[in-house]
Amino acid sequence: MLRRRRERLYEEKLDFSTPVAFANETEREACIAFFNAAFRAEESGLTQAHTLADDIAKLDPDLGECLRLYGDEEGWHRELLTEFLAHIGGEIRPMGPTTRTFYKLYGRAKRVDTIVLTNLMFETIGSTTYRLALRHVRQDPGLAAVRQMLTILTRDESFHVPLNVHFLRECQRLGLGSHPRRQQALYDVLFAALLGSAYASRRRAKAFDNIPFPTLARAYADHLGRLFLHEADLRFSPPSPLLWMMGLTKTGLRQSEHPSVVSLEAAEAAVDRDQVSVTAL
Ligand SMILES: [Fe+2]
Ligand SMILES: [Fe+2]
Repeated sequence: MLRRRRERLYEEKLDFSTPVAFANETEREACIAFFNAAFRAEESGLTQAHTLADDIAKLDPDLGECLRLYGDEEGWHRELLTEFLAHIGGEIRPMGPTTRTFYKLYGRAKRVDTIVLTNLMFETIGSTTYRLALRHVRQDPGLAAVRQMLTILTRDESFHVPLNVHFLRECQRLGLGSHPRRQQALYDVLFAALLGSAYASRRRAKAFDNIPFPTLARAYADHLGRLFLHEADLRFSPPSPLLWMMGLTKTGLRQSEHPSVVSLEAAEAAVDRDQVSVTAL
C-alpha cells in the first residue's frame, strides 16, 4: 500500500484558485504559527523515519522500505507546507527555545523503540489537532485552501498512526524493544509534555484554529490513552491522575464504542487517499 501511495503522491496539488482571505492580521499570524508547528513536526518525522529506515533495512529490508516510504510522505507534507506558508505570506520561522530543546532531545534519541514510540505519540497529537482544527476554523470561502491543507494532513496522519503502531510491534519482534518499565516511563513523560504543549499552543494558534484549551487537552488525553488501552499487547497504561484531570477514566476509554484510531479497521479506512471522505475525518 505504501508503494501504491507513493506513486500517486505528487499528483495532488494545493488549489489556490480562491484567494486566501483572513478575517484580520491576528488570524493570519496565528495561522502562520499553527503551520510552522506542523512544519517542524513533519521535518522531525521525516528525519527520524529515514534514519531508522537505514538501520532497520539491515535487519529487515521490507520494514526498512516501509519506513523510507513513510518518511517520504512526511517529506511531501513538508514541501506542501513550505508552499502553503509562502502563499499566505508567511515563512519558516526559527523555533522557540522550548520547541528547539524538545526536538533537539528527540533528535538525539538513539534507541529504536524510543524513536518509534515518540513518533507514534506525535502522530496521534498531530492527527488529533488537524482533525479538530478542520472542525473549528471559520467556514469561510476565503479559507478554502487552508481547509484543503488541513484535510490532506488529517487524512494522511490518520493512516500514519496505525502505521506507527505496526512499526512499534515490528521493532519489538526484531528484539529492539527496551524494558517495559523504561518504555512506560517515556510514555508517561511524553503524555504530560504533550498535554502541556496543548496549553502552550493556545497562546500562538488559537486565534486561527479556535480550539479551546479544555477541548484540545481532553482530546489529546483521550486519544493518547485510548490508543494503547485498545492495543493491550503493547502494555502501556495512561497515567490515571492526568486522565482524571481531564474527566476521563481508563474504564471509560476502554469501553468507548468508537473504534481505536490505531485499529486495523482505521488503517484500512485511511489507506486509500481517494476513498477517504472529508466528512469521515
Ligand atoms: Fe505528516
Ligand atoms: Fe505523519
